[in-house]
Amino acid sequence: MKRKIFAIFAFAAILASALAGCSHGRPAARETQAETERAAVITDAPASAETPASAETPAESETEPPSGKGGTIVVYFSRTGHTKPVAEYVAEELGADIYEIEARVPYTDDDIRYFTDCRADREQNDPSARPEIAGELPDLSGYGAVYLGYPIWHGQAPRIICTFLESVDLSGKTVIPFCTSGSSPIGSSASDLHALTPGAEWLDGRRFEIGASREEVVRWLETVNVNEGP
Ligand SMILES: Cc1cc2nc3c(=O)[nH]c(=O)nc-3n(C[C@H](O)[C@H](O)[C@H](O)COP(=O)(O)O)c2cc1C
Repeated sequence: MKRKIFAIFAFAAILASALAGCSHGRPAARETQAETERAAVITDAPASAETPASAETPAESETEPPSGKGGTIVVYFSRTGHTKPVAEYVAEELGADIYEIEARVPYTDDDIRYFTDCRADREQNDPSARPEIAGELPDLSGYGAVYLGYPIWHGQAPRIICTFLESVDLSGKTVIPFCTSGSSPIGSSASDLHALTPGAEWLDGRRFEIGASREEVVRWLETVNVNEGP
């Protein structure tokens, strides 16, 4: 009899510990899935192409390459990685697509050692400089709003932003610029770009400090008033 009672207790203990293990396992699994989805939103086709269609992944359109379905796209250039997280916060908060402008000839560390007559210095000193963009440009036809992020280079947007703006059609779209910098304000960096985008409406831009938090970005987004049209 004693042996029987002991066996019942032992079974109950094993069952309890198995259940506890399950309940710890579930959130971890959810986190892994959330991380996968976040990565797919931020990046692009390769990650999404491998994501199976299922009821567990409702944000399927977010995993496709930028195509205009979301209505809003974040386009950014970031050589040293400070503008990138701001762009990602914007895209994540708005559920927008995102496109990174990359130079066909990447900027080396020497290229951006400013005040040394480096490549970036020379480009910024030459209003006609148009560094080539690597890869394909996004199809912007379905987007109404374009958030445009860049670092301040000698008080201006890097010339590769001019290359981008002259390579796409932004007429009828709203452009919302933002930048990061060591200390300079956004100044005229955005308004100097207006002439390159006939028919586009530009909203006031916003400068963020290096290391700006998601909360700061969210507070800014709450003030942005994109006219959705009729
Ligand atoms: C060529 C060059 C010029 C720069 N000029 C300025 C400037 O005029 N004012 C400023 O505050 N920061 C300036 N910076 C610093 C960058 O704006 C700052 O580090 C920015 O956050 C970099 O963004 P990224 O990491 O996304 O490329 C300059 C940086 C480089 C490489």
